Amino acid sequence: MHRYSQITIAIHWLTAMLVVVAWFTAVGGRYARTDPSYVHFTVGLAVLLLVVPRLLARWLGAAPRIEDPQKRWLDLAARAGHTALYLLLIALPLSGWYAASRLGVPVSFLGIGLPNLAASVQGAPGEIADLHETGGTLILWLAGLHALIALWHQFVLKDRTLERMNPLASSDLTQDG
Ligand code: HEM
Ligand code: HEM
Repeated sequence: MHRYSQITIAIHWLTAMLVVVAWFTAVGGRYARTDPSYVHFTVGLAVLLLVVPRLLARWLGAAPRIEDPQKRWLDLAARAGHTALYLLLIALPLSGWYAASRLGVPVSFLGIGLPNLAASVQGAPGEIADLHETGGTLILWLAGLHALIALWHQFVLKDRTLERMNPLASSDLTQDG
């Protein structure tokens, strides 16, 4: 039985928490311009920062091998789902940063001022900002479905999938990428 490396597991759960905090601290409409949430910006940018070592670890050391592979189409669906989650983890912070720039709101990360990604506008911040808002909720739905599938694997198929991502899993598991 194989599992993800401790660093990947730590980043997975930290990212999941940050995404939930980003969702709860998000403000839209006129408040996005007059009373933006710096907690939202900070946790969202931390998601972007954390995805870099995570993808590096993923590419340098392969994902842990699955002992008893499921059907090929299910495997492809799982890969597509994980890829969509990774894409959102990159696109959401970048589109949010862009939306803030369009709104004329300065963006900083832990006290470090970041450059604007676009010129500010007086009216609505545009389609990328709309996509950011929609994507911000989509990731929660997708992650919820992802969590349900993980629980189904663990408790219905009983294939110990959750243990692959469990920081406290027993030592009979081999640690991979
Ligand atoms: C916002 C929340 C979440 C995000 C963005 C997220 C994202 C991801 C991604 C991208 C992977 C693929 C890892 C890789 O192979 O490179 C993954 C794997 C995994 N996640 Fe999540 N996840 C979230 C929440 C959860 C929750 C709540 C659970 C459990 C209830 C969970 C359980 C798992 C498990 C067990 C795996 C390993 C799957 C496998 O062995 O192929 N995740 N997650
Ligand atoms: C995982 C990361 C993120 C998630 C899940 C997320 C989620 C959301 C959601 C759901 C909204 C809509 C709120 C509403 O309409 O009530 C929103 C709005 C917004 N977010 Fe994010 N966000 C993330 C990262 C960021 C980052 C890094 C920034 C800036 C640096 C940012 C800036 C904004 C701005 C400016 C708005 C308002 C857009 C508008 O009103 O048109 N977000 N975000």
